[in-house]
Amino acid sequence: SKGRLVIAVDGPAASGKGTLARRLAAHYAMPYLDTGLLYRMVARAVLEAGHDIRDAEAAGAIVSTFDESAFAEDSLRGREIGEAASVVAAMPAVRSGLIARQRRFAAQSGGAVLDGRDIGTVICPQARAKLFVTATPEVRAARRHKELAGRGEAATFEGILADIRRRDARDSGRSDAPLKAADDAVILDTSALTIEEAVAKAIAIVDARRAG
Ligand code: CDP
Ligand code: CDP
Repeated sequence: SKGRLVIAVDGPAASGKGTLARRLAAHYAMPYLDTGLLYRMVARAVLEAGHDIRDAEAAGAIVSTFDESAFAEDSLRGREIGEAASVVAAMPAVRSGLIARQRRFAAQSGGAVLDGRDIGTVICPQARAKLFVTATPEVRAARRHKELAGRGEAATFEGILADIRRRDARDSGRSDAPLKAADDAVILDTSALTIEEAVAKAIAIVDARRAG
């Protein structure tokens, strides 16, 4: 098939979608957008302005005015901000306010790789290649536990597993753009895969879509 290559990578928390999406972007020399960071920025801005994280009116106002360059990525990767991001991500005004910038990114002439929850279903339903990355909650909790320990954030495995289950339920259960695989997505379960194995499988899937 012809035309630009857009790769949509979706999946639940700590499934490995970000690692895969970054590696795919490097492999195909395309720009990459981590859309989870946008929701994390909105959550951070709502909290910094002193609002309750459940205040949909405040979040809706912030989403139309916030300045992406004001946030350092590392400060957005913490445990609490991921939780807060999933709360604002259930608000229709927040989701709709972030659609245009994601679609603009995807429309670049050289193609693009985007990762998130709704890239293949809502943001880029025409994407040529769609991956839905999964792993068991236990494997994802172990990965996130290790990652947070590396950041110096102390947390128990059990606590992180509970976080992950709660976030899965919130992301899958919301009515606006719930987490789910697009009909034409290829499911990639990384539970038993190393990063290198997962990357090799993902490249094979994308190459098949490019050829097909
Ligand atoms: O890296 P991790 O999967 O833990 O989180 P993330 O991708 O940074 O996303 C944080 C939260 O933002 C998720 O739990 C979702 O609620 C929300 N999100 C979303 O709703 N749609 C997206 N396209 C990306 C993230
Ligand atoms: O973006 P998402 O939250 O889905 O996950 P990630 O940030 O790509 O991966 C979460 C953690 O799991 C990272 O520390 C990765 O290095 C690790 N990982 C892994 O151990 N094995 C994989 N197959 C994929 C990721």
